[in-house]
Amino acid sequence: MIDGIKILCAPVQGITDCHWRNAQHEIFGGPEGYYGPFMRVEHGEIRRRDLIDASPANNRVPHFTPQILACQPKDAVKMVEELVAMGHKFIDINLGCPFPPIALHHKGSGLLQYPDETEKLFKALLKVPGVSYSIKMRLGWDDPKQWREIVPLFDIITPEQVVVHPRTGRQQYKGVLNLDEFSEILSLCHYPVVYNGELKTIEEVMRVKQILPDIAGVMIGRGLIENPAMLCPEKATADNYCELHNRLREAYTEQLNGGEHQLLMKMKSLWEIYLPNAPHRSLKAIKKATSMAKYNAAVNELFYSLEL
Ligand SMILES: Cc1cc2nc3c(=O)[nH]c(=O)nc-3n(C[C@H](O)[C@H](O)[C@H](O)COP(=O)(O)O)c2cc1C
Repeated sequence: MIDGIKILCAPVQGITDCHWRNAQHEIFGGPEGYYGPFMRVEHGEIRRRDLIDASPANNRVPHFTPQILACQPKDAVKMVEELVAMGHKFIDINLGCPFPPIALHHKGSGLLQYPDETEKLFKALLKVPGVSYSIKMRLGWDDPKQWREIVPLFDIITPEQVVVHPRTGRQQYKGVLNLDEFSEILSLCHYPVVYNGELKTIEEVMRVKQILPDIAGVMIGRGLIENPAMLCPEKATADNYCELHNRLREAYTEQLNGGEHQLLMKMKSLWEIYLPNAPHRSLKAIKKATSMAKYNAAVNELFYSLEL
């Protein structure tokens, strides 16, 4: 909570898994809730590693919310039942993923074009007892007004919270944030609306609350990955940044069980977003590393230069 503003950590597939969430919370902190990246059903089954990631035993963060991505009611019900059996009582429904192969299958932001299918999905979820919902959405797939036919359907599942990233799916993660449409949602939606998009500093968080005073909070994704100390500047030390990195390397070394190439790829993917203001030379050496030995040398040099 900063100046009375609720702050949530966004899900980012491939990075904010339980290891990142636990490390961010334990070393830095700041968000009062953490959303998990989506799980989905593939060939009739939920991936084992998604279930492990969502397990309450593996999440030591406050208010962890698992997320599902589905278009077929039976898949959504299967995931929700599984999550409820694990002890979860609050689950997010992804209506925002812009990845074209997913959206083309009417999932994520792709589903925003199909109110009938969305209605069927919500009605099916009503049948699972003991759970309430959050919805994380964009404005539409290819039209920033598509939400207008979707938001009235929220009355079916009466979500406790609606997180809106004010772009269309087609925009992916770049381009203009449509605050006019966001304000319309804010005034027309009966449920608490959380703002999400491009917040990188505490000042930006406060500014968005000033511009949109009726929001129920903000959700931050890349800002917190770039700088996990974003909400607690006093913890922005080389030691803490190094500690988060080392915890992840340790967890993935164990998880990937000796697969050096896989480990290298996994660690490099963190650096697509992590510490973009670190010395360019070190970041380049990390991205070019062809072995874990070279990777570790480049990372050591980077953290050493941050200490100076
Ligand atoms: C690589 C990547 C993966 C993402 N994975 C998810 C996801 O699994 N579920 C989801 O709801 N949003 C996902 N998002 C979207 C973020 O949660 C967030 O809505 C988006 O990045 C905008 O917020 P930001 O500008 O604070 O990052 C992803 C974003 C990125 C860049």
